[in-house]
Amino acid sequence: MYLKELFSTPVWANSLDSISDQDLLLIKTFCLEQTKTTESVHFSNHGGYHSPAYSVEQLADTPLSVILQPILDKCNECMIRLGSDKTLRLSSIWFHINGPGDYNDIHTHGGILSGSFYIAVPDNNSSIFFSRALDMTNHFYGSIGCKNITELTAPDFDFKPSPKAIVVFPSWLPHGVRPNQSNMERISISFNTELINE
Ligand SMILES: [Fe+2]
Repeated sequence: MYLKELFSTPVWANSLDSISDQDLLLIKTFCLEQTKTTESVHFSNHGGYHSPAYSVEQLADTPLSVILQPILDKCNECMIRLGSDKTLRLSSIWFHINGPGDYNDIHTHGGILSGSFYIAVPDNNSSIFFSRALDMTNHFYGSIGCKNITELTAPDFDFKPSPKAIVVFPSWLPHGVRPNQSNMERISISFNTELINE
């Protein structure tokens, strides 16, 4: 029989190789310094540090400024891939520092496209994972004896990032972060976008 896979979910991944190792180091230092002066907020994070959300303007004079345009360019590239004639801007940016054992519960974002850019990633774990919407399909494939888990039947999908990796996905897509099973800090920048002139 012919199989038509309807309503698939786009998750884009790439690497921002234009960002230098020195830029990453400056961003890492900035993030670690921020934890000393700004209290963590609490949303999806279990342990670790979750910064408040910042605007592009608030980050203009920080080391994070060098990644904002490359991130936005990737998001707008995704909009073109979706066939949209609209343009996005970054509506909020924040960062996570997950130490040993820290993780993020499954959650969604507000906005159009969202994503993460990776500054420091432990070798062995702490993937971001994407999950099916919490509806019957989640239970369906598990209950009918599917042994060969494919992208068609999997309840979730892990993406293992490396430094300079960027992932972009629809803001409504449920996702979380696996526990950090190393002694190294996992540092990532997250972002939401909105339509210009909406
Ligand atoms: Fe998130």
